[in-house]
Amino acid sequence: MQVMTLGFSISTERLQLTPLEESDIDEIYATLSAHPEICEFLTFDPPTCRKDTEDFVEYCKKNFPKKEVVWCVRTQKKEFVGLAGLHDIRRTELAWQFDMAEIGYWIAPQWQGKGIATEMARAIVFFGMNNLELHKIKAGHVLDNAASARVLEKIGFQEVGIRRDHFKRYGTWWDYRLLELLSKNFEQ
Ligand SMILES: CC(C)(COP(=O)(O)OP(=O)(O)OC[C@H]1O[C@@H](n2cnc3c(N)ncnc32)[C@H](O)[C@@H]1OP(=O)(O)O)[C@@H](O)C(=O)NCCC(=O)NCCS
Repeated sequence: MQVMTLGFSISTERLQLTPLEESDIDEIYATLSAHPEICEFLTFDPPTCRKDTEDFVEYCKKNFPKKEVVWCVRTQKKEFVGLAGLHDIRRTELAWQFDMAEIGYWIAPQWQGKGIATEMARAIVFFGMNNLELHKIKAGHVLDNAASARVLEKIGFQEVGIRRDHFKRYGTWWDYRLLELLSKNFEQ
């Protein structure tokens, strides 16, 4: 797959990824409000007002690029697709070097089932390994999220294990499957 980068912007065959900006707020808010099911397996609830999304974008901008890099994903024709990010970037803590981040993503329902999520996730893994010089990218999903599992496995992520009853949501404790990909194992 061809991936081109310019600063923090990424371009693939079908997609353009640009760091999140205030100009993206309306489409993010509109998409998550119209399709709250997108958040079913995510760590956050759908926004209840535009301010929720404003706060999220402000948080991402404040932590960019040391802790978080979140991209707005659009088609080459600038149609809004979704968001993808490298979160919780960790470099060193005390004597330990990590160079690690966690990948996350969602896309609007009309773009699902076309291989677009795999294309965008592969692009940010490429960016993380090459441009951010990460040693490892980790990921996680609830066991029911078969689509996300498949996206990660297609890119080469390998299972580390399953955390039992990892978090409680909707009144239920959920098992959480952990995966990771080392830069030396990423087939570009
Ligand atoms: C996860 C998500 C990004 C995947 O998007 P997508 O458009 O289905 O992904 P792709 O088209 O790139 O491909 C996904 C792969 O999963 C498979 N797949 C999709 N839905 C599936 C399902 N319900 N069960 C099993 N496999 C599924 C596809 O067939 C494809 O594999 P293939 O190429 O071998 O056929 C999308 O469903 C989404 O945004 N979900 C809500 C947010 C979310 O869960 N994010 C991840 C949190 S860990």
